[in-house]
Amino acid sequence: MSHLISPFSLRGATFRNRLVVSPMCQYSAQHGLANDWHFAHLARFALGGFGAVIVEATAVTPEGRITYGCLGLWDDAQIAPLARIAAFLKSQGAVAGIQIGHAGRKASTPLWWRGSFNETEAEKPLVAFEHWQPVAPSPIPHMDHPDYQIPRALTLAEVQALPGHFASAATRALRAGFDLIEIHGAHGYLLDQFLSPVANHRTDAYGGSRANRMRLMLEVIEAIRAVWPEDKPLFLRLSVQDAIEGGWTIEDSLVLAAEARARGVDLIDCSSGGFAGAGVRPAPGYQVPLARALHPVIPTMAVGLITTPEQAEAILTSGAADLIALGRTALDDPNFPLHAARALGDDPYAQHPKQSGFAVRLRDQFLARAQG
Ligand SMILES: Cc1cc2nc3c(=O)[nH]c(=O)nc-3n(C[C@H](O)[C@H](O)[C@H](O)COP(=O)(O)O)c2cc1C
Repeated sequence: MSHLISPFSLRGATFRNRLVVSPMCQYSAQHGLANDWHFAHLARFALGGFGAVIVEATAVTPEGRITYGCLGLWDDAQIAPLARIAAFLKSQGAVAGIQIGHAGRKASTPLWWRGSFNETEAEKPLVAFEHWQPVAPSPIPHMDHPDYQIPRALTLAEVQALPGHFASAATRALRAGFDLIEIHGAHGYLLDQFLSPVANHRTDAYGGSRANRMRLMLEVIEAIRAVWPEDKPLFLRLSVQDAIEGGWTIEDSLVLAAEARARGVDLIDCSSGGFAGAGVRPAPGYQVPLARALHPVIPTMAVGLITTPEQAEAILTSGAADLIALGRTALDDPNFPLHAARALGDDPYAQHPKQSGFAVRLRDQFLARAQG
């Protein structure tokens, strides 16, 4: 059996293989509520054999949404549509995960697939358009561009309330039936804004030294772990490096990874960048070295332009990571794990849903017979 198709366990969760669907915003919600789009979009990955499916960045407060079309878990009404999704993912053998986060100063931006705020006045009520002033560690905009506003600096009391917001969202994720939470600590969003000197100019206990800049992240982890059951894994997505002058570095991430692990984080999902001007150059497997760098400290997941089963297998066998996350490759081929099993010489039918595995096997038998 290949590494890629072999099972993996963390706490009480067993991943049927090492392939995970990376969280991907759909910008298709209204009032933070999941709908049929989210169900169908995510269900196809469980049917396609992924070991885990992680629901997109889901905001812990309304102003923490990246866009007005993003999901939320700040209200009990948001639990039921997510529970339907989690139940289906699990019924198909996938670990049901959800990423929770806060966009900070990168909130209230245009829906990515629209490209700009091009909603007409007639359309706005139909899409539940909202626009608000973002909050951040410091009143510094993400960049000088009309899509990014000058944020309001969070008061000390507001910062101290954030771990509670994350814990409330985690409790709702638990009630929705999820097996796995991923904290969004990457891509220049709020927790990353606190980590990085580029965005954090605070002079209180949450700014200045690295220990102070890590404080909110560690408090968030502790608050979530206090409500998230012992037998359920907790992932942390980090921009392992900002790739920017004066920014957060791999050395910083090594320190944070050890502190996070001590507080109950089980795995770091190793991404990078997210601040304006970051020198991240996407190329096949470009972030694998970051997963490799953190692997001596904590289990890791590799992500970023991983597109073939052979490439994914090589990342695992080289010891760089324990899991492989696919974003756009999963969108392009939701059945990637089924195809990967075939390509790597594993049983190509075992991970199919029962409703399709037997039929594909029959097809292959007919083909083999026809070929003599
Ligand atoms: C449409 C889209 C939405 C995304 N939304 C999120 C998100 O909600 N949270 C997150 O951490 N990363 C998000 N990402 C980043 C992906 O999870 C992934 O890390 C990135 O696309 C690199 O992997 P890939 O080359 O396999 O796509 C998004 C990427 C895409 C393409």
